[in-house]
Amino acid sequence: MLEKGKIDEILFSEQQISLRVRELAREIERDYEGGSPLLVGILKGAFVFMADLVRALEIEVKVDFLAIASYGMSTKTSGIVRILKDIDTDITGLHVIVVEDIIDTGLTLNYVLANLKARNPASLEVCALLNKREANKIDIPVKYEGFPIPDVFVVGYGLDFAEEFRNLPYIASIQPHR
Ligand code: IMP
Ligand code: MG
Repeated sequence: MLEKGKIDEILFSEQQISLRVRELAREIERDYEGGSPLLVGILKGAFVFMADLVRALEIEVKVDFLAIASYGMSTKTSGIVRILKDIDTDITGLHVIVVEDIIDTGLTLNYVLANLKARNPASLEVCALLNKREANKIDIPVKYEGFPIPDVFVVGYGLDFAEEFRNLPYIASIQPHR
């Protein structure tokens, strides 16, 4: 088992995140005027982002959640994704926006998108707060992106390291390996 990590550097403050979340909300409002999209948050990581995003949105939205297996105690994705809790909504014909905390390799979202697409939504887009673009192994079309970040491990604002640090109001890098 890895040792507990140490907070390294704050990458995005509470204020920076809040400003960016409101900008993303304006983009979504513009694109879904009168469209009432269903926002599907990927648990657990996206719960904080999702909560702030929906409250910033001044259009009608519905929410649902999908829980999938994460890294566990490691910091690298296995590529094998397991659905722990499915959404409750029948998304046939609905406008769906998948809300994710972070894209690393892209393997998780690739699986989630393929799975949701098979259920025939009217449209399917991605809103990701963070994207480690240089670590992407699969090209994921991200319509709404909060911040591109370098390939460092980050925690806070819903993101964890071994289930810790999700409650930090900011996003910080961490040194998990020493
Ligand atoms: P991917 O499948 O490699 O794109 O990994 C995506 C998932 O791994 C995210 O939903 C996160 O739960 C987790 N993850 C990836 N990078 C980080 C990170 O830097 N901190 C915390 N979780 C991460
Ligand atoms: Mg996640």
